[in-house]
This record gives sequence, C-alpha cells and structure tokens, in this order.
Amino acid sequence: MLILEDNTFFQTTLMDWSATHPRPMPWKGERDPYKIWLSEIILQQTRVEQGWPYYERFVGQYPTIDDLAKAPEDAVLKLWEGLGYYSRARNLHFTAKWITSQYGGVFPSDYEAIRALKGIGDYTAAAIASFGFDLPYAVLDGNVYRVLSRFFAIETPVDSNSAKKIFAALAQSLLDTTQPGAYNQAMMDFGATACTPQNPDCLRCPLNTACKAYQLGMVDVLPIKTKQLIKKERYFCYFVLRTNAGVYVQKRSAKDIWKGLWEFPLVEIEMKAFLDMDKKDATTWCNTHFKSDVLFQIAAISAVYKQTLTHRKINAVFCEINLSDDFEENVVFLHLDHPLHLASEGDLKNKFAFPRIIDQYLDNKSLSLSF
Ligand code: ADE
Repeated sequence: MLILEDNTFFQTTLMDWSATHPRPMPWKGERDPYKIWLSEIILQQTRVEQGWPYYERFVGQYPTIDDLAKAPEDAVLKLWEGLGYYSRARNLHFTAKWITSQYGGVFPSDYEAIRALKGIGDYTAAAIASFGFDLPYAVLDGNVYRVLSRFFAIETPVDSNSAKKIFAALAQSLLDTTQPGAYNQAMMDFGATACTPQNPDCLRCPLNTACKAYQLGMVDVLPIKTKQLIKKERYFCYFVLRTNAGVYVQKRSAKDIWKGLWEFPLVEIEMKAFLDMDKKDATTWCNTHFKSDVLFQIAAISAVYKQTLTHRKINAVFCEINLSDDFEENVVFLHLDHPLHLASEGDLKNKFAFPRIIDQYLDNKSLSLSF
C-alpha cells in the first residue's frame, strides 16, 4: 500500500498555499464541536454558498446543542426547508437529544464516541475531531480523493471496493499531526478551489513539481470512477501541409499524451465542431496561420481515424493542404504553439516517431500518393 515516508513537501506546500489563499467562511476556525458538526452536516451534498445562510440561521436560532435538542422536530425541519436530504435534519435533531440525555449536553471529545453518533460517518467524525479537539484524523471526501489520486497518479477507481482503504491510509500518512484541523481545512479548500474537477490551474499549482498526474498528463482523467469507465473522447484536427519538399511536422512537448512524439500541426476541437468539420473550416485555419499572399489549396479532408488509449479515445481527421512551390521562402506561420520542421518523405518514415494514429494515416496515404 502506498504510504508516504516523507510528507513534509506536501504538508508545507499545502499550508503555504492555504496561508496565501484565504477563504473566509463562518465555520472556519470554529472550536465549538456542535457548530462544526452542524456546518459539516449542512455541507454534505450542499454547496458552500447554499449552505452558508442555513448555517447562520441554525446557529442564530439554536446557539447550543441543548437549544436544538429542545426544539420541536417540525421547527427543525422548517429551518432545513430547501436544503433537501431531510434525513440529515432528522438525524441532527435525534443526535442533539441523544447528546443531551447521554452526555449531559456536552459533545463527546473522543473519536470513537463521535463516530458512533447517529448521522456521523468517518468524514464528519474526522472533521469534528480535528477542528474541535485537535485530534489527528485526516478527512477523506471527494475533494481529498481527487487531490490524492492526482498527486500520486492513482488509477484505482475511487468508487471501487479497495479504494477507501488505500486512500484513507494515504490521507492519514500525509496529515500534519501538529495542526490536524488547519491541515484538514487546507486540504478541503485546496480540493474545492485549486485542484478542481474541471480545468484546474495546474500551471500555477505549487504542488505541480511533484504531482504525478501533472507529469504524466493525466490530470483530466483522474480520479477514475468505475461507473464511468467510458473513456474520455478527444477530437483532433491535423493539418497536413504539403510542399514539394515535404510536409511540416511538430514535436509534442506539453504534459499531455504522446509527449516527445511528432505530429502535424494540430487543432483540438469539440465533438460538434469535429463532426461538422469541412473545407471552409480548413480554409479559415489557413487564412489565420499563413501570410495573406500564400497560395494554398485544400486537397482533401480524410476519414476519421481512431486510436484508443488507456483512458481516452482519440478521433482524428487530416486536412490535406497543398502549398505553392515557393511556400518555403514566403512562409510565415502565425499563432502556432510549436516550431515546425519541414520533413521530406524519406525522413518522415525514418526519422520521426509518430503516434499510431498518424502512422496509420501515413500507411494508408502511401498506398495512393506520396508526398
Ligand atoms: N465542505 C465540507 N466541510 C467543509 C469545510 N469545513 N470547509 C469547506 N468546505 C467544506
């Protein structure tokens, strides 16, 4: 099992990030276990912005656990109105009465006793124990699964039977036990605002130097879920720019699939644009990327080529563009991410390593015409 021996880089980087990314919320820094409990129950299945006013109304109306215990259930449910998942409110009320009768209204301060309360699972127990009592229990929720599965490039589906054990052990091994509450809060905030499910800003992430998913170009496919083992589809439009001296190729250098391999100039597009792709779009691309006096002719748009990778399906079309003989002297490529190399037909076969989908296209091509 993956257990981190040296957790200092992760801890210090996360805590530094937290110090420079304040995220004020009314329950932050709260030490009263009742209020922590209330906030965590509200925030289950509920966005922070939606839960915030409910939290303030509950704390206003029921400032102590005894106040909540004494309230009629109807009043509690009325205050919960609009939040959904009403069993949360019923359990909250039941447990408030239980704590009043069993513990004299004093919230238990021992992890096992907290975990044993109705409506409190591992996550909420760890949050209460760490925020309220400085106990060394790491929280594990969807945000934490995402951060860990990316940082360590763990491909175990997060909803599989084995996931919880693996991720819980790893989360626990990373915990800063000298400040478990602040660390847990930093982890939640980092997962919610930086290591987001879609489009995380990895370039500016302070953990990126050690993040395995970032290094491997897997951020967009992690965490993996068994129930969605459908592979993520990507749609590539390649421009095969042909002069009588050869074709232009570029090297893939981004932290993405096929790093270090060669390809034609590429535009990645959405499925709809891909399916609608026609000569007009290819002409637009040429007009955007060539000097205005360059002569070109859109010769063909290929059929769709497909390649299946471990976590993705690549769909590609090849727009074949013939350029005038004097293209090389005149050429100025505009707005390109990579430098282009002119490759002769012989070089293309012998010198450049291409992804399989491009080799297939080239093999098909050589049957009919050569560059
Ligand atoms: N989601 C659940 N608990 C949270 C907390 N304490 N802070 C931010 N988001 C949360």
